[in-house]
Parts: sequence; C-alpha cells; structure tokens
Amino acid sequence: MEQNQINLIELERMFDELAAKNWASSTELFPQEFSRKLAQECQRLHDQGEFNKASIGRGATKTTHSEIRGDFTLWIDENTVSPLQQNFLSHLQTLLEHLNQSFYLGLKRFETHFALYPPGAGYDKHIDNHRGSGARKITFILYLNESWKKGHGGELSLYQPDHEDTLITQIEPQLGTFVLFRSDLFPHQVEKSFQPRLSITGWFRNDAS
Ligand code: OGA
Ligand code: MN
Repeated sequence: MEQNQINLIELERMFDELAAKNWASSTELFPQEFSRKLAQECQRLHDQGEFNKASIGRGATKTTHSEIRGDFTLWIDENTVSPLQQNFLSHLQTLLEHLNQSFYLGLKRFETHFALYPPGAGYDKHIDNHRGSGARKITFILYLNESWKKGHGGELSLYQPDHEDTLITQIEPQLGTFVLFRSDLFPHQVEKSFQPRLSITGWFRNDAS
C-alpha cells in the first residue's frame, strides 16, 4: 500500500484560489516522488502500446483529428488498476469529497486518463463542458514531466470565460503541477509540444455512472 498523502493544508489554499478565480494551480498538493512514479508508469504503459489515439465529439460524431487534438490516452479503469493508480484514485475520491464539502457541487464520480502528446502535438482551444450542458463540473490535470524547459512548449493556455481571446495564464506541464478549473467556463488550449508531454487529466462529474 502506498503511503503518499495529499497535502490537506495546501488543498485548503487551492480551494481559496478556486473560490476566488474558478481555477487554481499547485505544485505542493502531491508529493513529488508520487508524481514521479506516476510519470514512470505513464511512460511504461505508453511504451507497451496501451495508449489509443484521442478522439473528439461523442457518439456518432466521435472522430480523431490529429490537427485539432494530437494526444494519445489511456483511461484508468478501476477494475484493472495498479496499486499506484489505485492510490491516485483514492486521492481523487478525497478531493471529490472536499470539493463537495466546500462548494456544494453534488459531485458523484470522476473519470480520468493518462495522456501523452508526441512532439508536434497540441490541442486546439476548446471548452470541456460546452454551455454547461454536460456532467463534467471540474477539470483536473496533473503534469508528469521532469525538468520541463521553456522551449519545450506544451503550455496549458487558459482564456477568459466571457472573452476567449484574452489570455489569463500559461501553465508549464512541470512534474507535480496540479491544476483545477471549472469545466464549463474556461476556453483552454494545449500549445504545441516539442517534447513528449505526459499528464493525467480528468473530470469530476455530477451524474451517476
Ligand atoms: C483536455 C485538455 C489540457 C492539458 O484533455 O481536455 O484540455 O493541459 N488537457 O493537458
Ligand atoms: Mn480540455
């Protein structure tokens, strides 16, 4: 059993930030060694050919368009998780409960996948939950790239909710950086990456499975 714990004092700070801005980032929520192990597992599973080309849209309109979205993903399935992944899922469950206590979001579950952007890939500007019609309420991302450098690209660009041309911030996908934002508000984009870019992305949802 992994003994890594999330930093609950840092979580409180992050929630203050989330309450004020509807997005927040932290480099201290997860122990760096825990993120490093997840990075190694992500790389290994990718090298074993477990990832699939990511798609956009859903149902009948589900297609892959590498020029819009160039990443490869592996959904984390609670029936087939490693002990390390199980540990991550239990942290997400803790987060879900704290989000409900602090923000009354009625979150019921989450979904999450590993993602790897090969060099040259990005993800064009989009909103995860268009017009708030879907069940995705809060987006989270944990970045898994040790010693990321400016020239490597791959930043997450966040734009203003009611003004999608106004850049709010750019976040580097550095190992251990964790981001939360309201899924229905923020246009965001993954800038073209010049190195393989690893992360775990997911959504807290308010529908039952
Ligand atoms: C997504 C997404 C952002 C990132 O997968 O929907 O926007 O920084 N990811 O990986
Ligand atoms: Mn997105």
